[in-house]
Amino acid sequence: MNVLKNGFLVLPEGVFCGDLVLDGTKIIQVGGTYEARIDDNVIDVTGKYVFPGFIDAHTHMQCWTGMDWTADSFETGTRAAACGGTTTIVDYATQDKGMTLPEALDEWHKRADGTCTANYAFHMAIADWNEQTKADMQAMRDAGVMSFKTYFAYDHLRLDDAQTLEVLEYIRDIDGVLCVHCENGTLVNELQRRMLAAGITGPEGHPMSRPAACEAEAISRLCYLAELADARINIVHLSSALGLEAVRAAKARGKVKMDVETCPQYLLLDDSRYLESDFEGAKYVMSPPLRKPHDIEVLRRAVCDGEIDTIATDHCSFNLHGQKDRGIDDFTHIPNGGPGVEHRPGLIMTSFENRLGVQDFARLMSEGPARVFGMYPRKGVLRVGSDADVTVWDPSVTWTISEKNQHQNVDYTPYEGFEVHGRPAYVFVNGELAVVDGEPTGVKPGAYVKR
Ligand code: URP
Ligand code: ZN
Ligand code: ZN
Repeated sequence: MNVLKNGFLVLPEGVFCGDLVLDGTKIIQVGGTYEARIDDNVIDVTGKYVFPGFIDAHTHMQCWTGMDWTADSFETGTRAAACGGTTTIVDYATQDKGMTLPEALDEWHKRADGTCTANYAFHMAIADWNEQTKADMQAMRDAGVMSFKTYFAYDHLRLDDAQTLEVLEYIRDIDGVLCVHCENGTLVNELQRRMLAAGITGPEGHPMSRPAACEAEAISRLCYLAELADARINIVHLSSALGLEAVRAAKARGKVKMDVETCPQYLLLDDSRYLESDFEGAKYVMSPPLRKPHDIEVLRRAVCDGEIDTIATDHCSFNLHGQKDRGIDDFTHIPNGGPGVEHRPGLIMTSFENRLGVQDFARLMSEGPARVFGMYPRKGVLRVGSDADVTVWDPSVTWTISEKNQHQNVDYTPYEGFEVHGRPAYVFVNGELAVVDGEPTGVKPGAYVKR
């Protein structure tokens, strides 16, 4: 047994001092005092917080995104995730045009199986909505995929409104959830054309061509479609105050079943970053783009007021040198996305330390994603019988994020120089000790999570 002695156990009912006992891949005791035996592995975690392992429900590992391959593989990405305290990712398996959904799922299993330090589940992104795809939806559900994604932007991926409505109806029938990339792609294309015509070719053209109105309009449209179909939706990577207004309007109508995700970049970084010299602004080219300080303030308040259900990263890493710099003469050729899977727990716990408590962190980064994406209570809670995914957080350590000390396989971090309060002292994945003091032990206990 692994015995974590005398920690602050972060439970939905409160924070209690006691022992947590892991037997193989499961939790067998939560709280109280455990009488250790000679062959037990006892770790004193006095003064440390014991969280259910954090879950990042939005990543893109080892993925072709239309312009390039992401820099992190499942191997490097899940190792980095675990080093930061994340024990499960939910990655976007993506159907290319001409591919069936089972083919796409097989392909993602080939990329991930046997290589992962953290657990992994898959959403399925649908790019080719045809008769075969419709016929394969139930097979996805049977294979453990209960969440799907469609896009309103990106020409190689996006579906039109009629197709989106039909996807929603299928998803309702299999009791799934549809995650949607909410940006109006037609508008984005037109605004990009206007920027380039006006001679704006640098990274600053990226946010100018994707204003918050593009997000808000798409969110509003999606909510009406979901109401028509009576299907559950997930608004991913919410980035703007205007987008939040669209969410609130839909919630006020009271008809839509909806959860809302945002990401650290939209809670911490503003659009002045696009003006960094020497093309460094390209580091922040992700969609939706970074917004104004006012948006950050509004979204942070929404997190504190319980309007946001989950915080994920949208980890989609590209190197600045050799990948993003292909767009040096035209910002529309900069691969979209940024890294974050390693740093989310530290960033969120530090930047909200005076506004949220440890139970809130567990809710937003573990319990919430487990509930929304069909993993609760197997994951997302410290409970007898739940999986032995545990993050022991040492609040006494202060350290600084840098490209030099990260495990993400990418040549920068958007959070360079950010001072973090706290670090994972121990991370267990399926009962195996995967990380000590923020460094990997070298094991790869990550398993596929059938949901
Ligand atoms: O820029 C981003 N976010 N790239 C990843 C794909 C997506 O839109 O989620
Ligand atoms: Zn997206
Ligand atoms: Zn994404």
